[in-house]
Amino acid sequence: MNDSKTPRDPLLLDHEADGIQELDNNLPRWWVWLFYLCTIFAAVYLVYYHVLGKGDLQVAAYQAEMVQGNAIKQAAIGRFEATIGSVTPSKEAAINDRGRELFLTYCSPCHRNDGGGLVGPNLCDDYWIHGSQFADNVKVIWNGVPEKGMLSWREQGFKPDDILAVASYIYTLRGSNPPNPKIREDQAPATPTEVYE
Ligand code: HEC
Repeated sequence: MNDSKTPRDPLLLDHEADGIQELDNNLPRWWVWLFYLCTIFAAVYLVYYHVLGKGDLQVAAYQAEMVQGNAIKQAAIGRFEATIGSVTPSKEAAINDRGRELFLTYCSPCHRNDGGGLVGPNLCDDYWIHGSQFADNVKVIWNGVPEKGMLSWREQGFKPDDILAVASYIYTLRGSNPPNPKIREDQAPATPTEVYE
C-alpha cells in the first residue's frame, strides 16, 4: 500500500489487484538469451525440416527405426533357426521359472497345469508324437502343428529365449506321472467315426 509518506519504488507499476502489486523488473540476461536461442533454433528447425525437407520427420524416423529393428529381429530368428537342431534344456532356475510362468499362462489350457494333457497331449510320458528329443519339442513349440490345433508360438510373439525357457520347463515334467493323464495317442480307443467308416 502506498501512502504519501513512503517513497514509491520507481519500478512499481500502477495497477493493483487484491493488494498485489507488480514491479517492472528487467528480465534476467540468461533468460533473454535462452529466449533468443530458442527462437533461432525454431527458425533453423523450420527451414531444415519443413522448407528444405532434409531430415526425417517423426513418422519417417519411426519407420526407419522399425526397418532396423526388424532386421535385428530377423537376424536373431535366423541364428536361432540355424541352431535349433542342437539346443539343450537349460538347468538355470531363473530360466525354468520363467518357462513355468509361460507354461501356466499360455500352455496349460490345452496341456493342463501339470502337463498331463487335455486337448493337447500329455507332456510327461515317454511317448511323443513329434519326437522325444528336446530339440523336437522346441521345433514343435516354435513352428506349431496348426492343422492339429497346436499354435506356432513364434507367430504368437514368443522370442527364441521364451521358447527355450518353456521347453526347458516342460523337460522337467518328463516322468512326473501326474494323476489321470491323457491317454497316449497311439493307444487311444478308436472313435465311433473311425469304427463305422
Ligand atoms: C489350443 C491348444 C494348445 C495350446 C494353447 C498349446 N498346445 Fe501344445 N499341442 C496342442 C495339440 C493339439 C498338440 C498335438 C499336435 C499333434 O497332434 O500333432 C500339441 C503338441 C505339443 C507338443 C508336442 C507333443 C508331442 O507329443 O510331440 C509340445 C512340446 C507342445 N504342444 C508344447 C506346448 C507349449 C510349450 C505350449 C505353450 C507355449 C503349448 N503347447 C500350447 C495344443 C495346444
